[in-house]
Amino acid sequence: MVNLLSRLLFFLLSLHCFVACLATNTKNITTDQSALLAFKSLITSDPYDMLSNNWSTSSSVCNWAGVTCDERHGRVHSLILQNMSLRGTVSPNLGNLSFLVILDLKNNSFGGQFPTEVCRLRRLKVLHISYNEFEGGIPASLGDLSQLQYLYLGANNFSGFLPRSIGNLRRLKHLHTAQSRLSGPIPQTISNLSSLEYIDLSSNYFSGFISPPVPH
Ligand SMILES: *[C@@H]1O[C@H](CO)[C@@H](O)[C@H](O)[C@H]1NC(C)=O
Ligand SMILES: *[C@@H]1O[C@H](CO)[C@@H](O)[C@H](O)[C@H]1NC(C)=O
Ligand SMILES: *[C@@H]1O[C@H](CO)[C@@H](O)[C@H](O)[C@H]1NC(C)=O
Ligand SMILES: *[C@@H]1O[C@H](CO)[C@@H](O)[C@H](O)[C@H]1NC(C)=O
Ligand SMILES: *[C@@H]1O[C@H](CO)[C@@H](O)[C@H](O)[C@H]1NC(C)=O
Ligand SMILES: *[C@@H]1O[C@H](CO)[C@@H](O)[C@H](O)[C@H]1NC(C)=O
Ligand SMILES: *[C@@H]1O[C@H](CO)[C@@H](O)[C@H](O)[C@H]1NC(C)=O
Repeated sequence: MVNLLSRLLFFLLSLHCFVACLATNTKNITTDQSALLAFKSLITSDPYDMLSNNWSTSSSVCNWAGVTCDERHGRVHSLILQNMSLRGTVSPNLGNLSFLVILDLKNNSFGGQFPTEVCRLRRLKVLHISYNEFEGGIPASLGDLSQLQYLYLGANNFSGFLPRSIGNLRRLKHLHTAQSRLSGPIPQTISNLSSLEYIDLSSNYFSGFISPPVPH
């Protein structure tokens, strides 16, 4: 009897967790809107007024400059803000854009650490953040972006090692980390990037040597 009761209790607790966890994981376009507003709130300079008036709650996020949504889910699919001279740091809330496929912030003045939360975006195919002022290490969790095909991190102030986990990016076609402050050995795992078509690691402080590719 006690056994039965404890089983029932366990079942109810599990059910409670299931429902509660489901609710907190449910994201919709409202989540995307608050993620983008959080992103906007950390932009300290927008000299050409690209977002300051345009990103307003009086219009749908899908009509905001640089934002596109996918038709099937009605969620944010791409965020493309090239050449806008935007300055500030990148909000970790971008990690809530769970349907994001393209994140392109090329050629702005974003600085500080790149938020590791972005590495939760399991649908991300393009991450383009070159020509900015990011500093600190490249997060090891970058290796979690299993759909990533294009990775451009160059022309920043990233320092430290290129993480071994980069070798997990099985679909990666382009890898560009040139003109930064990376150092240490180039990880062996890079030879596991069997989809790679283009690689540029130039103008860093790497040491050691790259082993010749293993013939397949
Ligand atoms: C999104 O979900 C929240 C609850 O999680 C709800 O309050 C809100 O109305 C939803 N928004 C849309 C557009 O469905
Ligand atoms: C915001 O910019 C987009 C793209 O430039 C434009 O289509 C849209 O009409 C603008 N929205 C507002 C409210 O200005
Ligand atoms: C950004 O500027 C570069 C260089 O001028 C140009 O090639 C590129 O097309 C521009 N991107 C956009 C989205 O306008
Ligand atoms: C960056 O954008 C500026 C315009 O805002 C443009 O003149 C410059 O060529 C761009 N540089 C790169 C590397 O795209
Ligand atoms: C979005 O992300 C931030 C930081 O990663 C978090 O604090 C916030 O609660 C998240 N959820 C929603 C629904 O905005
Ligand atoms: C990188 O850091 C150095 C030293 O702190 C600084 O002088 C330089 O302007 C930075 N470059 C970029 C692109 O942020
Ligand atoms: C490459 O991947 C194989 C499995 O797919 C793994 O056994 C091996 O350790 C990896 N090599 C490197 C250098 O990470």
